[in-house]
Amino acid sequence: MNIHLETQRLIIRDLTEQDIDGMFALDSDPEVHKYLGNKPIKHKDEALKYIKDVNTQYVERGIGRWAVELKETGKFIGWCGLRLYTDYTFNNHTNFHDIGYRLRREFWGKGYATEASKVCLKYAWNVMKLNTVYGITEKGNEASHKVLLKIGLNYIEDFFYKPENMMLRWYSISKPK
Ligand SMILES: CC(C)(COP(=O)(O)OP(=O)(O)OC[C@H]1O[C@@H](n2cnc3c(N)ncnc32)[C@H](O)[C@@H]1OP(=O)(O)O)[C@@H](O)C(=O)NCCC(=O)NCCS
Repeated sequence: MNIHLETQRLIIRDLTEQDIDGMFALDSDPEVHKYLGNKPIKHKDEALKYIKDVNTQYVERGIGRWAVELKETGKFIGWCGLRLYTDYTFNNHTNFHDIGYRLRREFWGKGYATEASKVCLKYAWNVMKLNTVYGITEKGNEASHKVLLKIGLNYIEDFFYKPENMMLRWYSISKPK
């Protein structure tokens, strides 16, 4: 198990196939998918495919979303971290890193997404030596909007994402001087 980061309450580590049950619980919840295009998954195979895709990204892109585990219980609560987009275009950007997060519903509202994302941003600057990190949310996803602002991203503008027929919001942050 490759652990990348720790915070006061969380361990942030590689996502592995052992996370399949947690990933299924996460991604089969319609509330979790409310601002993700409303397409919760129905089968564990889909959770496994997601994990495998992320593991391929670790190898091919050097980064991908990481699992978030509660130190207190060792429980998988969701994922967070950086993704290098090479395969989709958002707001006229194709090659960029964004910061994201997705947590199981029972763990919302405890500051975990903020705690995890802050340390992932530090990793972006200090380890990956990135100059800019972007953020994307669906318009109306106030929890996610707040997390991005709390960790220091700037809201730039809204844009229409044609492939999903959605209004999205675009954020960015530059490496602190
Ligand atoms: C977005 C998400 C990761 C946030 O996780 P979290 O651990 O609850 O976030 P935090 O507790 O760190 O911060 C959430 C903030 O949003 C606020 N918030 C939550 N719901 C809100 C709402 N409906 N309206 C306004 N503010 C809201 C919280 O009060 C908190 O702000 P505060 O610290 O000022 O009180 C979680 O809601 C989630 O997994 N949602 C489903 C997946 C998703 O939408 N991911 C993001 C895709 S862009």
